[in-house]
Amino acid sequence: MKTSTTKPPMAKPKKDFVADVEVTTDLLQVLHKDHKNVSELFFQFSQEDDDKEKKAIVTRIIKELTLHAKAEEDVVYPAVRDGADDAEDIMDEADTEHHVVKFLLAELSDMSPKDEYFDAKVTVLCELVKHHVEEEEKEMFDKIKDADLDLEALGQEFLDHKEEALGKKPLPKDKLAVVGSRVAAKKKTA
Ligand SMILES: [Fe+2]
Ligand SMILES: [Fe+2]
Repeated sequence: MKTSTTKPPMAKPKKDFVADVEVTTDLLQVLHKDHKNVSELFFQFSQEDDDKEKKAIVTRIIKELTLHAKAEEDVVYPAVRDGADDAEDIMDEADTEHHVVKFLLAELSDMSPKDEYFDAKVTVLCELVKHHVEEEEKEMFDKIKDADLDLEALGQEFLDHKEEALGKKPLPKDKLAVVGSRVAAKKKTA
């Protein structure tokens, strides 16, 4: 393996604190599991020098982040906006970070590892995603806990949405339109 100075400055991901949980639909654990998977992919990229493998890893990163972001935007973010107190500012910021991430994903999908800015764009994407995940797992997770939402139902909705996007599990046509308000309606009264 040759040395390179253009790889993302990624440390090896730490052991997952929920790794011993086999199956869960708890929203916070489902989201964290996705975040950890993408972190692992960025680490794999940082260790790789073969152009074909680098392209394959980035293709997986694009797929995972696209599915994750879409499911968050359709299921999680509306529920947090509707169910949590004073969440508008952090959710506006989260939506804006998704917008920038998706811009880089679109660029990378048309690029080759031989292109001059390929590694640089993966590095910036990695840094953006790391920042975004930190804010979600600190600020947004706290808002979700305080809102006392039905985390099992939301986690299942999130997983169903990703499965449906992969064409594995068709959902009723009207489900995506009402999912945010339906879950928010489950918010328990204090
Ligand atoms: Fe997100
Ligand atoms: Fe996320």
